[in-house]
Amino acid sequence: MASPGRTSGAPWRRELQCCIKDSKNGKHTPRFWASGRDHAEEGIAITTDTLLGGLDPDLIVEIDVSSNEFKHNWVQHMINWSTRPPLYAVWNNTLMVMVGRHADALEVFSDRERFSVEVPRQPGFERFDKFYGVKALPQTDGANHDRLRKLANPAYGPAAMRRFEPELVHIIDKMLDVLPTDGSEFNMVDLFSDHLIVRVMLDGMFKLDDEQKAVFNQMRAVIPLATMLPPGSEFPKVYVDAFAATKATILDLIAERREHPVDDLISRLVHAREEDDRLTDTELHDEIFTLCATTLQSTSSAMGGLLITLWKHPDQLELVLNDRSLVRSAVEEGLRCHGPALFTFARFALEDTEVAGTPIRKGMVVRVATAAADIDPTVYPDPLRFDVRRNPQRILPFGWGPHLCIAQRLARLVLNKSLERILDRFPTLELVDIDFEPTYRGQVGEVVPDSILMRIPA
Ligand code: HEM
Repeated sequence: MASPGRTSGAPWRRELQCCIKDSKNGKHTPRFWASGRDHAEEGIAITTDTLLGGLDPDLIVEIDVSSNEFKHNWVQHMINWSTRPPLYAVWNNTLMVMVGRHADALEVFSDRERFSVEVPRQPGFERFDKFYGVKALPQTDGANHDRLRKLANPAYGPAAMRRFEPELVHIIDKMLDVLPTDGSEFNMVDLFSDHLIVRVMLDGMFKLDDEQKAVFNQMRAVIPLATMLPPGSEFPKVYVDAFAATKATILDLIAERREHPVDDLISRLVHAREEDDRLTDTELHDEIFTLCATTLQSTSSAMGGLLITLWKHPDQLELVLNDRSLVRSAVEEGLRCHGPALFTFARFALEDTEVAGTPIRKGMVVRVATAAADIDPTVYPDPLRFDVRRNPQRILPFGWGPHLCIAQRLARLVLNKSLERILDRFPTLELVDIDFEPTYRGQVGEVVPDSILMRIPA
């Protein structure tokens, strides 16, 4: 595995050194902060001088977090970050603060006064705005966020999940029905994990027809394009078209469910009330867009991570097979060791500040590397050991604080029920090659397994 350390020859490092030099000469070379968050209306003015001047070059790691190298060697990088105070890394020519230790992660997640999820509306920040201006929960802060969250919360509450559980088990069983039981090899990603949450959400929770599902699936497919936009560029036509089709479908759905409510999540959101307050059509659109089009990958990827970790540790698998009360802890341990993402949504510093001594300038992009925090050895002793009896507490795959995943109860239910049904129905399921090295795809920060070859001996 490549070392996550620094090398002096990378082009971006030469540019950075040149920026620092220029800033000392009083010139601006706004390459790393092309966007500059020069927000007249917010009073934020940050230039390359103020961003780079005084930053400790020793805290800068030469990693492009959008590179294949980073995705391929993510474990090594997370091990490294899990013990270091926040450091600076590069993405698409932007210098970002990456926060890896557990305590530092909690500090950033919990402090909305200093770190906001709201994306500055100006050139250069397009790639952080993967929802194309939609103002939904993950990118809204303050009182507005809290109001939206209060209205939406009951739709994901324990009662709703209890009602949904039998249908969920039915969906999982239908999916498992297609696994070959004659000993032949199959790709568990293609046959199961990749479609899991799409089926659960679009069929089970939203009750969509095939045409509506195709629209949302197309949106899901083009979302990663937004995260790869060079600073200042337009959203690609394929993205804009998919967005328009999704918007039209959602507005139709809202009108239909208002007239004819059914027992689904959209009807629950349409009819959600908090005293006299309710979601407007725009808020409903933004909420449903976020849920349908953008949250479909995480649970599937987490399922893939769980399959990889548990089935690569036959002794641990054996323990769970013999004692189903360990399913819950095995799922939590899978999320800790191999969650679906390396870091969460971006935060933007609202003031000059620091975390654990690392200076953060007003306007800088800050990202919490939850995958690093979850293997912080000061919180999880022997952190790389996958132990289904560990029952890890305060893990961060769902974030923490005001933006804690609103659907974490649903995601956990899906993972628990899937594992239970797989173990019940196919106790001999095995990896074709227990030593296989997974490869990954997905948007920046995601770790979506490409393939998991398995078989069920006849
Ligand atoms: C294993 C599966 C999942 C994981 C690991 C996950 C992870 C996360 C994380 C880390 C956040 C916080 C992001 C941040 O603070 O920057 C989040 C927020 C959110 N997630 Fe999930 N998620 C999962 C499944 C889902 C599903 C299935 C849905 C939809 C039904 C969903 C809907 C949301 C929403 C709406 C938010 C924003 C909450 C807020 O900002 O108040 N998630 N999720």
